[in-house]
Amino acid sequence: MNTHSITAAAIDSFSNTDDPRLKEILGSLVKHLHAFAMDVKLTEPEWFRGIEFLTAVGQKCTDKRQEFILLSDVLGLSMLTVAMNNDQADGCTESTVFGPFYVEEAPHYEHGADISNGASGQACMVQGSVKNISGHPIPHATIDVWQADDEGFYDVQKDDLDHAQARGVLHSRADGSFNFKTIVAEAYPIPMDGPVGTMLSATQRSPWRPAHLHFMIRAEGYETLITHVFKQGDAYLQTDPVFGVRDSLIADWVTGTDGLTTLNFDFVLNAEK
Ligand code: BEZ
Ligand code: FE
Repeated sequence: MNTHSITAAAIDSFSNTDDPRLKEILGSLVKHLHAFAMDVKLTEPEWFRGIEFLTAVGQKCTDKRQEFILLSDVLGLSMLTVAMNNDQADGCTESTVFGPFYVEEAPHYEHGADISNGASGQACMVQGSVKNISGHPIPHATIDVWQADDEGFYDVQKDDLDHAQARGVLHSRADGSFNFKTIVAEAYPIPMDGPVGTMLSATQRSPWRPAHLHFMIRAEGYETLITHVFKQGDAYLQTDPVFGVRDSLIADWVTGTDGLTTLNFDFVLNAEK
């Protein structure tokens, strides 16, 4: 066995795999991992440092913290996978990363309700619609929304909080419209107290995500849309550490002469294939 024969031997070791997709994925993984090691001429101490890093990533994971997803996010793998698998028709709202802070059982709200539920931040109104590509309203779409407070924390990151804040579920009206009160989105850093944070610091990368609201919109007959709305003018739009920004998702939070801040955003869902 030598550097010229080991890659083919490792790929061949999967030749009896029954599941053809598993065989393809493992073979390709070995091919690219070996090419990477050859490309950088990986040394044994560097190999061991890599093992230590991945071990620390695993050890940082709990039922509330997924450091491996964060690693995938900052390497651009999450966004690449989203982009490859959500090639929506022109005119449909684009998808972006899910992020780690979605909660399945969020409280349900009526239109106009204040979903901030005590979260700190500047009050604002969010309104918009859910439509299909032909402009027809989609009634009763399930609209999940979640965001961080003005200190950059999601409710699930606060150990002493026993209720949901700045997250909720609404259903679009018969004309596809929706509206709710919340707090203005602000930029926040991704969790930096683990090995992924150490990696970002060592490489002088910014941990700051540009201000955004998360949405997941589901309706029968349509593909589920997982996306954000980003705040126009945010200083971190060009340096999102998870590569999630898409121009079509940037919108204005407008403050009127009455001092009220409002975000308007219309979502367009892709019909199910
Ligand atoms: C978020 O937007 O909530 C998020 C996304 C990826 C990594 C960390 C946070
Ligand atoms: Fe977020």
